[in-house]
Amino acid sequence: MEEMKRDLLNPFPWYKAMRTSKPVFRDSEYGLWNVFRYEDVKRVLSNFKEFSSQFGKAFNPAGGPISESIINLDPPRHTKLRNIVSRAFTPRSVEKMEPAIREICENLLSVHRDGKFDIVKEYTSPLPVTVIATMLGIPVKDMNKFKRWSDNVVGGSESNYAEFPAIMKEMIEYFRKMMVEREKEPRDDLITAIINAEVDGDHLSELESLGFFILLLVAGNETTTNLISNSLLCFDENPGTMNEIRSDKGLIPRAIEEVLRYRSPVQSIYRVAINDTEINGVKVPAGSIMVPWIGSANRDESIFPDADSFDINRKENRHIAFGEGIHYCLGAPLARLEGKIALETLLEKYHMITIDRNSPIVPQDSTIVYGLKELTVKVS
Ligand code: HEM
Repeated sequence: MEEMKRDLLNPFPWYKAMRTSKPVFRDSEYGLWNVFRYEDVKRVLSNFKEFSSQFGKAFNPAGGPISESIINLDPPRHTKLRNIVSRAFTPRSVEKMEPAIREICENLLSVHRDGKFDIVKEYTSPLPVTVIATMLGIPVKDMNKFKRWSDNVVGGSESNYAEFPAIMKEMIEYFRKMMVEREKEPRDDLITAIINAEVDGDHLSELESLGFFILLLVAGNETTTNLISNSLLCFDENPGTMNEIRSDKGLIPRAIEEVLRYRSPVQSIYRVAINDTEINGVKVPAGSIMVPWIGSANRDESIFPDADSFDINRKENRHIAFGEGIHYCLGAPLARLEGKIALETLLEKYHMITIDRNSPIVPQDSTIVYGLKELTVKVS
């Protein structure tokens, strides 16, 4: 059954088959240990004493800024570095961004369009990159560069891997310049906060600071873009939802939670098994690279009744789209806020929004992030 093809736009039948037939499975091609059931995925994601996040060097032995960033670190260093920025990302801090986010959404939609446009290119993609660049303190004129970098780093395709070293070099040079500027003249932005931070009496190393900037830049772009575009796809398939949220905008946050479950923007994550262990009766040796499939866990029918139905009125929605445990997504409140404002602004601007089924719906070429490269909508 494992040979059944994983369809990029619809991987869910494959997950279902794997949850039933091989819930913990080592693939022979890459030697990765795939985990599919909700409770097992949660355990691998959250139990940092058993499963390390320091897998970066397994893929890139030379290391690099991303290997030094919190997403690739275990405690105690992880805890200390995460604390530096966690205050900037609490729901209360993020709420202050609301007017700026609304303005960005309105500006993006203010361009006159003739009833049909690619909403990824024109709306869902520029929004998060503009927001995080504002928080980091990066000039708006560099936005296109940023988008290109972030697409490459999270892309996960062969061509992305080939371009990666050159992109990394470009990013490092860019952020080095930004750091020098802030050292001369501090500003009220995240770059300044990170270079001024002290952990155990020391500043972060240059590589750690670079890792932080790059992580913040890339972690929230593609993911938030996908959350918004995936919402439109879910609503279009379930036209009742669009009417429901249009007549009661207070339902938008619940609808977003169901999109996060049903079409999770991050489908898979990596960990490394620290010791020999056992998952669901299967022995997993120390050093194994684990792939807990969030996208599968969120469709596990033992946790979510009628898991393959999209239902914004679901009673309990314990999805793990933002992960679980100490690495739980730092940007979750920001992503939720951006998603809510983006959908509200769309509904205010247009009476009708449907997907143009005559245009291609192009999925992203990745097993890690899930979403659309292109989505043409018809609006009136
Ligand atoms: C819908 C949008 C998003 C989704 C689905 C998402 C998903 C995730 C997931 C699953 C993790 C856990 C990784 C792990 O366990 O190894 C994570 C971590 C992280 N996310 Fe997000 N993310 C989103 C948006 C954002 C945004 C907007 C930002 C910031 C601007 C952000 C910043 C981060 C950071 C810094 C981490 C690492 C946290 C740590 O290791 O302690 N994310 N995200």
